[in-house]
Amino acid sequence: MNPVTLPSPAGPGLELRNRAFIAPMCQYSVEAEDGVPTDWHLAHLGAFAAGGFSLVTAEATAVEARGRISARDLGLWDDSQVPAHRRITDFVHSQGAAAAVQLGHAGGKASTHPWLPGAAEGTVPASDGGWATVGATDAPVLPDLDAPHALSEEELGLLVQAWADAARRADTAGYDAIQIHAAHGYLLHQFLSPLNNTRTDGYGGDERGRTRLLREVVAAVRAAWPAHKALGIRFSGTDWVDGGWDVDATARMAGELVREHGVGWVDLSSGGLGGPAAIPVGPGYQVSLADHVRAELAGTDAVVSAVGLIHNAMQAETILATGQADAVSIGRAALRDPHWAAHAASDLRVSAADSPAADQYWRANW
Ligand SMILES: Cc1cc2nc3c(=O)[nH]c(=O)nc-3n(C[C@H](O)[C@H](O)[C@H](O)COP(=O)(O)O)c2cc1C
Repeated sequence: MNPVTLPSPAGPGLELRNRAFIAPMCQYSVEAEDGVPTDWHLAHLGAFAAGGFSLVTAEATAVEARGRISARDLGLWDDSQVPAHRRITDFVHSQGAAAAVQLGHAGGKASTHPWLPGAAEGTVPASDGGWATVGATDAPVLPDLDAPHALSEEELGLLVQAWADAARRADTAGYDAIQIHAAHGYLLHQFLSPLNNTRTDGYGGDERGRTRLLREVVAAVRAAWPAHKALGIRFSGTDWVDGGWDVDATARMAGELVREHGVGWVDLSSGGLGGPAAIPVGPGYQVSLADHVRAELAGTDAVVSAVGLIHNAMQAETILATGQADAVSIGRAALRDPHWAAHAASDLRVSAADSPAADQYWRANW
């Protein structure tokens, strides 16, 4: 797991100590429902930095309050949220890791119950603290969700500004990279996919129209985010549904964003919209999406990360050594073992001196 650099339009880019990244994972732990990170987020993300990961990505963080997946999500829609994010980035940096934040908007999949044990399904009603959702159209994104309000072109202009404002706050909060959440059936994916986007105005219709909002968001974020900092994007590389968003469209879009819009990191997840989706869930089941997009990005210095049921060091190293991806994003395996990256280094015979483990834990290498 050699170092890797996330390129940026200016400067040397973001140098990372290895190729094991933390995938963004919602914690549903903002009990005050004000979008402000808590001690849990510091302990959760800090453990991954101490555990040897090179890039620790904070969970889907809403660019406006109604864009939260649940009321307990993180936010960067208000300046008051910045100091608690800064506390996290300072600690992550103290451990030799870099900090990224995933900026997102859940659109018609907002206002759901925190996905904790025993959680109910569906949209939270207003009587229980839920709120009216917005989307590409007024069709429910999934059968058990309420119908969103279809955003007008004027409202979309305000929304793009919210993304830019959140990016400016992410900079003040000390994040080194932003990952734009365009996956999993949330707002940007709702616009990309013909399964959901049946609009007939300038934000719908053909692929150019359906990708317009994403292009505008990326341009606005890039302009608000310092040129020396890295910008990334997470796609659902396919809906796994005939007639949906697919890996060829993803590769075309990724190519345009990397070559023309200053994106330097592309992460390939999948699914989240429509159905029934034929998802071939199994070890490394999304790696082929990263491989496909990486081929399209040949000749650029963009970093492509693979994610999804990547469990152990040998599996990760095989993905990297065979050139299917430049990095691996680890989710659930890191929840089971926050020191997954340090363990991987040991399994791969990295010397104790070069181990990314925290200095305080060096004697674990007896
Ligand atoms: C608890 C949990 C929360 C998640 N939250 C997010 C999120 O905020 N944003 C996102 O893009 N994906 C989220 N995911 C998906 C993960 O980032 C990752 O793509 C997925 O778990 C597959 O990788 P894995 O098999 O290594 O866990 C979440 C997954 C889990 C388990």
